[in-house]
Amino acid sequence: MRTQVAIVGAGPSGLLLSHLLAADGVESVVLETRSEEYVAGRIRAGILEQSSVDLLRSVGLGDRLDREADPHRGIYLQWPGERHHLDFVDLVGRQVFVYGQTEVQKDLGAAARARGQQVVYEIGDTALHDLDTDRPSVTYTDAAGRSQRLEADVVVGCDGSFGPSRAAVPEAVRRTWERTYDYSWLGVLADVAPSTDELIYAWHPDGFALHSMRSSTVSRFYLQVPNDTAIEEWPDDRIWDGLATRLGHGVDGWSLATGAITEKSVLPMRSFVQQPMRHGRLFLAGDAAHIVPPTGAKGLNLAVADVALLAPALVAMLKGDHGLADAYSDTALRRVWRCTHFSWWMTTMLHTSGDPFDQQLQLSQLRWVTSSEAGAAGLAENYAGLAIGS
Ligand code: FAD
Ligand code: DHB
Repeated sequence: MRTQVAIVGAGPSGLLLSHLLAADGVESVVLETRSEEYVAGRIRAGILEQSSVDLLRSVGLGDRLDREADPHRGIYLQWPGERHHLDFVDLVGRQVFVYGQTEVQKDLGAAARARGQQVVYEIGDTALHDLDTDRPSVTYTDAAGRSQRLEADVVVGCDGSFGPSRAAVPEAVRRTWERTYDYSWLGVLADVAPSTDELIYAWHPDGFALHSMRSSTVSRFYLQVPNDTAIEEWPDDRIWDGLATRLGHGVDGWSLATGAITEKSVLPMRSFVQQPMRHGRLFLAGDAAHIVPPTGAKGLNLAVADVALLAPALVAMLKGDHGLADAYSDTALRRVWRCTHFSWWMTTMLHTSGDPFDQQLQLSQLRWVTSSEAGAAGLAENYAGLAIGS
């Protein structure tokens, strides 16, 4: 089989890239190890930046989003006894939207079906070849176990943190940076109306907690837990008690409503960047090139920003103009490092390490961010997101 762009991975970055390329008349084939149902059902990120929403709208993916996404002006930051609202619209003139990654994935899947996009699900043994030549290819086994080869002009690795693309950049060429953290998140989805109008990020001596949401009837919560926590250690009652304590149930008349927990999982966190994001005819986008801890809600938005930059670069390259493609890695990495720093900054401001000196620094930083307009605007500018291309 031959196509112009072989895309490895049908997560948000892979499917959005195929959508953007198709809009400019470039043909692609998307290869994915998992089934379509599995990919569409994975519960992950929940917040879209203004620029991600603007992009999705501009390419015809905004209809359901405009009907169902919940625009938020900002977030609450709190620590015991104090809750402060940061209004991003007042501070920087931009807002964010609650719209789950599952919904983005469903919209992308529906659009792919509608245009007849070729997406090959349930493949195995993905391997990338001849990336230094202008005839690269990807081999795999299809769902029936038959060996296949997809030849292309360009291969794009959108295969997340466990896919083979990032390691296809030769060791002598690639450079990586990594930071691990001493804690993980316990993520919980519950059938209960949110107890807040906008997200609450809570610092607490017992550990960080986040109150997020998916709709008027479904809430999403996260609790800081030690690494290697087993889910069995957190029966539902312990989760609700932990959330009530950390989020301040009973303080100033605020109460946390509880409901049936429908999903819970432990998410490790790390920061990781690999550069360059291009080697020969291989380009990397999204989690294949970089991972951020989730505290700043950046992972999905960075994936969108990467492909928004990459699609026009590939369209021009396939017409013989290599300028944007040559600049892709450097341009994308500027935003990647900004988001890497912001995600690390939010993470280390809000998660307790047990060190009393660190605690005082965190509380001082929280007081500064919530009382100084300059401090608040810095957080708002980063959280609500930079314009794409900057
Ligand atoms: P992915 O969504 O990972 O997609 C990669 C795709 O490639 C997958 O479908 C995978 O099955 C496929 N693939 C892998 N290997 C192969 C192969 N060999 N061949 C073919 N296909 C392959 N971000 C936030 O901002 N907030 C959050 O709360 C949040 N929670 C998260 C929870 C979890 C458990 C995870 C893993 C991530 C979370 N993230 C969160 C990050 C966010 O979901 C990602 O940044 C985003 O999914 C990146 O999109 P992507 O398309 O680049 O990668
Ligand atoms: C969600 C996840 C995040 O990492 C975050 O910072 C905010 C919200 C969520 O899943 O709703």
